[in-house]
Amino acid sequence: MCGIVAAVAARNIVPVLIEGLTRLEYRGYDSAGLALLKPTLTRLRSVGRVAELALQANGQTAHHGIAHTRWATHGVPSERNAHPHVSAGLAVVHNGIIENYVELRRELLAAGYVFTSDTDTEVIAHLIQHTLQSAPDLFAAVRLAIARLTGAYAIAVLREGDDGIVVARHGAPLLLGLGTDGNYAASDAAALLQVTRRMIYLEDGDVAEIRGDAVRIVGAGGTAARVPADRPVHESTLSADDVELGDYRHYMQKEIFEQPQALAATLEMIGGAQTLSPNLFGVAAPEMLSGVRSVLILACGTSYHSGLVARYWIEQLAGIPCSVEIASEYRYRVSVPNPEQLVVAISQSGETADTLASVKHARALGMGRTLAICNVPESAIVRECALRFLTRAGPEIGVASTKAFTTQLAALFLLAVTLAKQAGRLSAEQEAEHLAALRHLPVAVQKVLALEPEIKAWAARFADKQHALFLGRGHHYPIALEGALKLKEISYIHAEGYPAGELKHGPLALVDKDMPVISIAPNDALLEKLKSNLKEVAARGGELYVFADADSAVDAEDGVHVLRLPEHYGLLSPVLHVVPLQLLSYHVALVKGTDVDKPRNLAKSVTVE
Ligand code: G6P
Repeated sequence: MCGIVAAVAARNIVPVLIEGLTRLEYRGYDSAGLALLKPTLTRLRSVGRVAELALQANGQTAHHGIAHTRWATHGVPSERNAHPHVSAGLAVVHNGIIENYVELRRELLAAGYVFTSDTDTEVIAHLIQHTLQSAPDLFAAVRLAIARLTGAYAIAVLREGDDGIVVARHGAPLLLGLGTDGNYAASDAAALLQVTRRMIYLEDGDVAEIRGDAVRIVGAGGTAARVPADRPVHESTLSADDVELGDYRHYMQKEIFEQPQALAATLEMIGGAQTLSPNLFGVAAPEMLSGVRSVLILACGTSYHSGLVARYWIEQLAGIPCSVEIASEYRYRVSVPNPEQLVVAISQSGETADTLASVKHARALGMGRTLAICNVPESAIVRECALRFLTRAGPEIGVASTKAFTTQLAALFLLAVTLAKQAGRLSAEQEAEHLAALRHLPVAVQKVLALEPEIKAWAARFADKQHALFLGRGHHYPIALEGALKLKEISYIHAEGYPAGELKHGPLALVDKDMPVISIAPNDALLEKLKSNLKEVAARGGELYVFADADSAVDAEDGVHVLRLPEHYGLLSPVLHVVPLQLLSYHVALVKGTDVDKPRNLAKSVTVE
């Protein structure tokens, strides 16, 4: 959370900072601010969106500046808590949390520093200022100061009279952008595409200085990291279109409709193959996956839901036990380690603090067979894991995850098939059939997207509701959870996902005419059971909205609305059934007039605990 941009260049960098922050707004949007050297320090801050800051910054010029968009942790969203934070001619922007800020603040107060915010970040500004008294320069002072910080951070620091900007990272993402007329730093590549494609991903413990004509990096051990020997320069393959809205009204809408291409890109590597190689998951995969007798999946949010679907696939196809845990729970509970277990971390961003920490925790417990399923190459989770599978969804900017989810499902299905094959439970014919079904997914999803007008009509009926229930069974139960999450995230309607069979054990008490019940009713072995559950709802006067398959024997009647997906899709049916639920929540949010891409209180990349 929080986005950082820094620039030192011959051009006017104010528009670069503003455009960079706009690209990073998905990381937080409580307040925004920037500090420029002109050559004295000028600070502009505003509560709310980057657009507000842009108005203030209009007409400003500078060649040297840092900027920030905030997701509040310490201190309410307000101008006084907005970054940058300053200490006599020195300014700092920060992403992360400083855990020992209370002790440091006490110490700095005793040394005479005056605090003007409630943030942990202001401690960093004063600490660096204080350290400058005994350090030869800003670079040295930053290195000494961060040695005293506990927690996660990416920071950028500038000071009056200094030609460079000093940046550092530990546990939060930060990269350098090498331009032709200057150098830059940012929380992600999308922020810098406007000026360069040449990026260096910093490593934990790195401190770097960007100047107009050079960059230097010193690694955690204190030795200079050579570019490109120690820190390779990556040519970003992102295109401007990947991060532009184009003809769409919202990123979420764009990303829902991009799912056929995202799936096709993710599945490109299997090409026309009739058989899968474990190498898909990395060079060490044949050895690491062989003999896997159980799987532990760790994730948060929507990624956790994809893990829940995968459990059904892995147990059914590969016949090995699979457990799925919310990363923030796993990392702190006393669990029974199993060194032979495959640990799978699922994350769109690859930066989610709890997921990253849970993998580190598993490794510390002796579980070295780790696999990242992730949408961002070079992200912390990808680097932490021994094996990797990169989904190719492209940048996902809407806070509510959509195309990342369906591409994760495709990747997880590949994993289930690979494990099944290794367990000797799959004939060549079955394997070829699964691969053919996967390859057909983009076309199948495209057909589901064509249901949008009918879903839109349904959405109008939800806008005045306070609550909603989502029901599913089997591998569609996690899809019910995901549908409920989507609705609450962006339309602020309280929604819960339930396994339909569990309805009578509590939630049925809530059902009345004001509680819409959305049900996923694919034409599978559980359909008849599900229909009995739906009768229980209808008998209590509940209004049912059923997403069925073309051939599901469910009929519309009074109080029962049915929308049919074009085809039944067997094991991969959850990939199709989640799409109308994404569209439903999107259209309900439109009717309610909420901020679809930036729902209140949330952020996309959750790099704090
Ligand atoms: C946040 C986002 C969700 C996402 C979750 C996990 O809560 O708003 O959309 O599912 O983080 O993120 P990850 O990047 O690890 O998949």
